[in-house]
Amino acid sequence: MTDQLLIRKVPRHVRSWIEKKRVEHGMTQQEFVVSILEHAFGRSELPLFPAAVRKVDVSGPESLPFTFADFFAGIGGFRTALQSLGGECRFSCEWDKYSQKTYKAWYGDTPEGDIRKIRTQEIPDHDVLAGGFPCQPFSIAGVSKKRSLGHAHGFKCETQGNLFFNLATIIEQKRPPVAFLENVKNLQSHDQGRTWLVIKGTLEQLGYTVFHKVIDAAGWVPQHRERVYIVCFDKHIFGENPPFRFPEPPPGKRPKLADILETNPDSKYTLSDHLWKYLQNYAERHREKGNGFGFGLANLDGVSRTLSARYFKDGSEILIPQQGSNPRRLTPRECARLMGFPDDYPIVVSDTQAYRQFGNAVVPPVVQAVAREIIKVLTWQVMRRGSLFNAPRRRAKAS
Ligand SMILES: C[S@@+](CC[C@H](N)C(=O)[O-])C[C@H]1O[C@@H](n2cnc3c(N)ncnc32)[C@H](O)[C@@H]1O
Repeated sequence: MTDQLLIRKVPRHVRSWIEKKRVEHGMTQQEFVVSILEHAFGRSELPLFPAAVRKVDVSGPESLPFTFADFFAGIGGFRTALQSLGGECRFSCEWDKYSQKTYKAWYGDTPEGDIRKIRTQEIPDHDVLAGGFPCQPFSIAGVSKKRSLGHAHGFKCETQGNLFFNLATIIEQKRPPVAFLENVKNLQSHDQGRTWLVIKGTLEQLGYTVFHKVIDAAGWVPQHRERVYIVCFDKHIFGENPPFRFPEPPPGKRPKLADILETNPDSKYTLSDHLWKYLQNYAERHREKGNGFGFGLANLDGVSRTLSARYFKDGSEILIPQQGSNPRRLTPRECARLMGFPDDYPIVVSDTQAYRQFGNAVVPPVVQAVAREIIKVLTWQVMRRGSLFNAPRRRAKAS
């Protein structure tokens, strides 16, 4: 037998992936392919990548088949982004019936309901746990009270009080290699930083390395929207220092508001004289008091203010100036674009619900950019260990 191997008909995307990766690793094509084969050698379970049997829409050489679970899914901002990179959604959870309706229309399945009622055994294993947990007030005072009373405190006890801790319990029991979370920027300063310390400390206690960064979506969509992105890698798999970096916005021209506006929006989105007058008077009263509350007439050549879940009330935070008439609010489709959701996603709920859903969502293009960096680490792990799981999955006893 010779030591030669000729492989024909290598799919084009595999070829370009090999080319990209061998350059990154400073290897020749021969060294790179042989090293992959050596990693695979003797393994009982093939294919090399656990989910590779699935047909994946490989949109770039950095795509890698992986599985994920979508918690506090809303309308699936995480799902849109992760699916676009080859991710397969194994589980989703969202209790709001209108968000479930949109989710079903967009992805074909209805999420499970209340996270507090889900038994961990019902959640399939997944590589990435994603979730924009609700940013309701966090009560940390209760913990020190329990401590002072000599009651059980710490992680187990905290699960009662807060939805983040429900998520943490699932992380503890399912041990996803990666947890990818998102929340409002304030999370870091809430309660003088103590809330964030508890959240970060909890994830670290579970054995994860925690990376976090506030990212403004304005680099990807024409909206100023600062959110904290939290990416956690299981130390038992990736070691203490996984080579993760948050992405920078794409270079070149920033998107501007004018790019996402509809050409002929329905006149129902134009403010009535009554509402327009009310908003102007309201702003005037606050100006007199020396504070800056009020409506925001958008600069079409720039980016908008942050779209909030309350936008349906009067739309005052983002008003589009119109020649010869009162300003108008954004249409639901424009809100979808402002958040970076594709135009072919149908809007299947009322305007009120649509505004609320978009205002609550995460921006898929930002999630996608962060996820690309996560996938680089997954690929690095697969390259050095031949699998995402160099150690048996450590799992606590399921509840
Ligand atoms: C900040 S939003 C997340 C939005 C999502 N990232 C998206 O892109 O649309 C939080 C979501 O958690 C949901 N939620 C709140 N409490 C819940 C619970 N107990 N069980 C399941 N979902 C819950 C809310 O309905 C809301 O849609």
